[in-house]
Amino acid sequence: MKRFFICLMVIIALIACNNEKKEPETTSETTDIQKKWWKEAVIYQIYPRSFKDTDGDGVGDLKGIIEKLDYIESLGVNMVWLNPIYSSPNADNGYDISNYREIMDEFGTMEDFDLMLNEMHKRDIKFVMDVVVNHSSDEHRWFQESRKSRDNPYRDYYHWWPAEKGEPNYRYSLFDPKGDAWKYDSITNSYYLHYFSQKQPDLNWENPKVRQEVYDIMKFWAEKGVDGFRLDAFQFVSKDTSFPPLPEGYEKDVIKYYGMGPNLHKYLKELNKEVLSQYDVFAVSEGAGSTFEDAHSLVDADRNELQMAYHFKGMDVGNSLEGYELSEFKEVYTKWDSAFAKEGWLSIFLANHDVPRMVSKFGNDSPEFRAASSKMLNTFILTMRGTPYCYYGDELGMTNIAFDSISQYQDIVAKNGYEKTINEGGDIEQYMTELKFLSRDNGRTPMQWDDSEHAGFTTGTPWLPVNENYQKVNVEAENNDPNSCLNYFRDIVKLRMDNPVLVYGDYELLFTENKNVYAYTRKLNEKKMLILLNFSTENTSIEISEKLKDLKLVINNLSDVELEDSKVTLKPYQALIFSYK
Ligand code: GLC
Repeated sequence: MKRFFICLMVIIALIACNNEKKEPETTSETTDIQKKWWKEAVIYQIYPRSFKDTDGDGVGDLKGIIEKLDYIESLGVNMVWLNPIYSSPNADNGYDISNYREIMDEFGTMEDFDLMLNEMHKRDIKFVMDVVVNHSSDEHRWFQESRKSRDNPYRDYYHWWPAEKGEPNYRYSLFDPKGDAWKYDSITNSYYLHYFSQKQPDLNWENPKVRQEVYDIMKFWAEKGVDGFRLDAFQFVSKDTSFPPLPEGYEKDVIKYYGMGPNLHKYLKELNKEVLSQYDVFAVSEGAGSTFEDAHSLVDADRNELQMAYHFKGMDVGNSLEGYELSEFKEVYTKWDSAFAKEGWLSIFLANHDVPRMVSKFGNDSPEFRAASSKMLNTFILTMRGTPYCYYGDELGMTNIAFDSISQYQDIVAKNGYEKTINEGGDIEQYMTELKFLSRDNGRTPMQWDDSEHAGFTTGTPWLPVNENYQKVNVEAENNDPNSCLNYFRDIVKLRMDNPVLVYGDYELLFTENKNVYAYTRKLNEKKMLILLNFSTENTSIEISEKLKDLKLVINNLSDVELEDSKVTLKPYQALIFSYK
């Protein structure tokens, strides 16, 4: 059961990083990190199924995104990442691709895509394409061919294990209800490997033809003008293809046994040479290995591999019903910042399509504190070093939907986990309680545009229900309220855009031991800012070392503020930013 929940959170818990090898200091010195446009960006992530439906089928589409580009522009963000939009049978909502050069029917056409990209570029918004090439769909032509016969030209596009060699050494599957990553296929009396679901067979990157296919696909999209690539589950592409038996407990460090394989860096260098270096694009890896060294090996400029990675250590915090301690949160972000202060670059995020809503997990989604805590969390994302990734709806303070019955869930992981728990005689009540909080569907409910039926997302029946709080939490209502989460988000994005210190400045943690307040400074040359974030429901006072009259308050997420000489009293979930004069 517990193990399943590790699976449920996919990369979050599975790619658990243990960063024990290198323990850097908690502060960093002035950096001479190279300036790059993708470091200065603020990325807005859109789950396209859930953003805006224009044809009434209950599923978001590209025309819907085009319709909302003025809204996206109004946020002040300058880059958009869309989850996969390629043709797909949707076993895993587009993370199972059947044609890498076509747009999924439900989302529209290639003409819609071209128009969308063009309209984004007209507004100076760049675009990041999700690239899912650890695996394809089992409905991809390559796999259809591959399974036909052992001598098919596409046979080696995937990992096959002939049954006459006996059963392959067991590997557990992250998504499978039976838990086995090898699936027997009677057509050729062989097993194929699928780290994710049975409908997502792993591609064989050892085969140079597969790699060439991938580079060609990426070039196809780069030629169209995309500006970046998000490499899905990328650490897994290089494997030990002898598939040896795995030691007891390997699930706890699955990335070590499943990913960061012997040839990963060779492939990344090749990809860089063939694609990334040929265009003005960047690539971000989902996952950053198990150690700081792993992460550096992926993104340091002199490696000529990738430009950015996101680690999941931050996501591991609070991955349970018990919640989390602020001390752990501070420690994770401080260590990762320090480890990358001089070299390499990371992203900063608190939510995406694989995890609960940011405010429900790290903040407080009760009516009293929802708005304040979600503004406070956005303040964190937008004032840390690293490229911020803001998940659609988090600018409004959208919350978990918290389903009660398994029939309400759509996610393959939720459904397969349910089946697995039943099969194994696990505690289904406990499973449902955890699912309610941790399910990926929590973060995938439709965008809340207004207070009309289905929150203005669709005129049909939405593929996933709209959160009941849409009558209050929606774009239209928040647009009209100067104190809304939405308008605060615009302010804080603008502050980031206007202040390179928030992008490149050194980070220093203050008040390390304070249990309620996360305080830090960012400093770049003469410019310095102080960020104070109350992560608790308690009023908390701190005594800073300067006189407050020497600082200028530039952001406050609440209407008032208590300042006295050098003492600041932060109200529950208050976020303040001061600039040093
Ligand atoms: C990544 C995606 C996740 C997907 C999985 C398999 O972790 O973020 O949504 O299910 O890869 O492609």
